[in-house]
Amino acid sequence: MRNPPERYLQTLRDHFTTAPDWFDTRSGSEKRGRPIATGAALTTYLHGHETAFQRWFRFKEAFSPEFVAAAIGSLGYRPQHVIDPFGGSGTSAITSQLLSIDATTVEVNPFLADVIKAKVSPLTAEKLRSAAADFHAQLLNTPTDFTSLEHWPPTFIESNEKDRWIFPRDVAGRLAQYLSCIESIQDADVQRFFRVVLGAVLVDCSNVYVNGKGRRYRSAWKLKQPTIAKLDEYFGRQFNTSFEDVLRFEGRPRSRVTVVNGDSRAALQQVQEPADLIVFSPPYPNSFDYTDIYNVELWVLGYFGCAADNTRLRNETLRSHVQIRRGYEGPIGKSSTLSRTLKALDEQRHSLWDKNIPEMVGAYFRDLELVLEQSKRLLANDGRVMIVVGDSRYANTRIEVAIVLAELARSMGFGRVATKEVRQMRASAQQGGSYQLAESIVELSL
Ligand SMILES: C[S@@+](CC[C@H](N)C(=O)[O-])C[C@H]1O[C@@H](n2cnc3c(N)ncnc32)[C@H](O)[C@@H]1O
Repeated sequence: MRNPPERYLQTLRDHFTTAPDWFDTRSGSEKRGRPIATGAALTTYLHGHETAFQRWFRFKEAFSPEFVAAAIGSLGYRPQHVIDPFGGSGTSAITSQLLSIDATTVEVNPFLADVIKAKVSPLTAEKLRSAAADFHAQLLNTPTDFTSLEHWPPTFIESNEKDRWIFPRDVAGRLAQYLSCIESIQDADVQRFFRVVLGAVLVDCSNVYVNGKGRRYRSAWKLKQPTIAKLDEYFGRQFNTSFEDVLRFEGRPRSRVTVVNGDSRAALQQVQEPADLIVFSPPYPNSFDYTDIYNVELWVLGYFGCAADNTRLRNETLRSHVQIRRGYEGPIGKSSTLSRTLKALDEQRHSLWDKNIPEMVGAYFRDLELVLEQSKRLLANDGRVMIVVGDSRYANTRIEVAIVLAELARSMGFGRVATKEVRQMRASAQQGGSYQLAESIVELSL
């Protein structure tokens, strides 16, 4: 293998201690810094804020590159093609690319799909330096045009009639200037890079914070509102951080990475090239809708133009939440654990916070079954499917996702099916809070 995983991981760990100034044209190579601690948890991104490419956008649920490299290494041969049907922040795509392996990834959220595309696209430091200089000059001459923000939901911009707003009016005006300058960048890869940089700082430069439970106003937010200076500083800093990785990995292998912005339940049907590894972590059936979590980026950056766009995206996400009403058919395959679970949920329906949760859980497994059907079609003979899943719990009923998936996979004719618990996660407050839920890896081969 041209870039063995160890070398790639070591390179990822070596970082510059100081970012270059916003327009500093010095090469960063003399500013090499300390390596980060090793031993990140297998499946998750403990050191994401320090790891190359992971630090382009804070994405809590991302794989660690170590996990993807280990999954690739576990095949025992050099894979030709890796597929990830739930791309997220693109860990499997960028890891495959850096290891010189072709990859296909599907991500339903158009902002996240752009994050992945930005990471794997053939940008050069020179292009970015020159674009940054142009951008800076243009920003000085760009008028503040609030009409370009008219499609934003009312709570996004400060006004006298409102009690709450996400962005103070002057910061919103500055965002309008940024967006206009980004829009005028001709090179699509460079334009996307700038948009992703802006996306990475939006929430930090707003009156809200976002976590797995959704969006909340910061404490005493009216007294500590962001300023234009803060936005400029954060944008410049994030630009440098992402720029460093482009510079550092400029000579990276250019294997073919296809990023599909779509719903993997349908989009995988269009993929024809077999894969040696199909690795993914779907949303867990815990009722959080990723559409809500990334709402600020989706509206501000123009991926949403009206409420119907929001609804359309919700409809395309996996049925892991009850944010909108949809059809709720269950899986075709057999799983005695799922049947037992659905029966128990049905009996507790009166104490569930949403009466559709039992059907949502059934439909969640139908969605995963659709992805498994396509995975089986696409899997190379010696290949492997590796799925990281987490359990959920409603009332007293635990949704044992790995066990159900393993049963469904057996009934679909996968030859080898194994599950392995990798860690215990603390349950969310919404699910009762204090107890532990398992996160597991399900491994399948033909
Ligand atoms: C747990 S995250 C994946 C994280 C990824 N492994 C990484 O390293 O960044 C799950 C992702 O699935 C996406 N998703 C949800 N429904 C989808 C669908 N129907 N098709 C494709 N992606 C979907 C979500 O937007 C989210 O980004």
